[in-house]
Amino acid sequence: EKGTYAHYMLKEIDEQPFVIRNIIQQYQDEQNEIKLSKDIRKAVGNADRIYIIAAGTSYHAGLVGKELLEKVAGIPVEVHIASEFLYNQPLLSEKPLFIFISQSGETADSRGVLVNVKKAGLPSVTITNVPGSTLDREADFALYTYAGPEIAVASTKAYTAQMAVLSILAMDAAIAKGIDTDFDAIHELSIVANAIEVLTDAKDEMEQIARDYLLETRNAFFIGRGFDYHVVQEGALKLKEISYIQAEGFAGGELKHGTIALIEDGTPVIALATQQSVNLNIRGNLQEVVSRGANPCVVSMDGLNRKGDNVVIPKVHDYLTPLASVIPLQLISYYAALHRGCDVDKPRNLAKSVTVE
Ligand code: M6R
Repeated sequence: EKGTYAHYMLKEIDEQPFVIRNIIQQYQDEQNEIKLSKDIRKAVGNADRIYIIAAGTSYHAGLVGKELLEKVAGIPVEVHIASEFLYNQPLLSEKPLFIFISQSGETADSRGVLVNVKKAGLPSVTITNVPGSTLDREADFALYTYAGPEIAVASTKAYTAQMAVLSILAMDAAIAKGIDTDFDAIHELSIVANAIEVLTDAKDEMEQIARDYLLETRNAFFIGRGFDYHVVQEGALKLKEISYIQAEGFAGGELKHGTIALIEDGTPVIALATQQSVNLNIRGNLQEVVSRGANPCVVSMDGLNRKGDNVVIPKVHDYLTPLASVIPLQLISYYAALHRGCDVDKPRNLAKSVTVE
């Protein structure tokens, strides 16, 4: 039930700190070690390459999952849109492992791929929020996201939960491989949960940004690099599906290869700048759009934007910034849709789970 909330989406955004804390509990044993089935550990350990298959927001979580698995555990990962993989399968490695990410566990495109994977006798893991769903039952192994029912069509808490589980999986794989990593997913996730709490408390600020940047506009751009590039794609999807504003998430460095032609006086550009290693580069990209008239809003950990608004997110581990930086984007989308009079929980033309191809 949505209780005192006007919409499920806002309730689900607010639930994210609890979801992350719940995941920490579910994946930790009494000795504070990661609790994961031996079979999954073995399947990951045996793989020479992981293929992540998903759609929509779950695909965006997969993009972050790839970074985590590669950076923390040194396992090569490819991320594929399920409907593309289904009819245009790339060459596979010798010992592939398939990871299906799906909130509902019912997405037809992903189910289609799993059927083929099983026919080929290849191993599979599903990461889902719905135990007993088709993808859960039919994959060899399953990991749950423990986010509780997600009712709003726009996925929010399922996304952060998927990334949290992927970070734990990555750390577990690193330990299993004897890699010396100083990334302690569990500890870092507890810091993330606190950061999300701070960010969900900043609703008035996000509402004001939505009013200032997105009330009248027909389009909006999101830019980022590295982890931030994955999050801006999710931010753009969120905005377009509930507010019907045409929005795209771009890699900062790609702007000058075409997109910058679209920037006009007043075009809203939301930039994510949480990654120290590319901070100067994204700030350079921001300059480029500002000098063409863009109306910039920057989400960062330092708040150094000189023109336009700053959203400051609390300090979290570089690898887990997506779980924090997506929160302002979710809230800005929510308020943009609300004040444009859209049906927030049930946007036009969309269903919660896409069970037909
Ligand atoms: O249930 P799934 O995670 O497999 O669903 C995948 C997409 O349909 C879903 O994430 C969709 O993109 C959401 N409406 C995004 O908010």
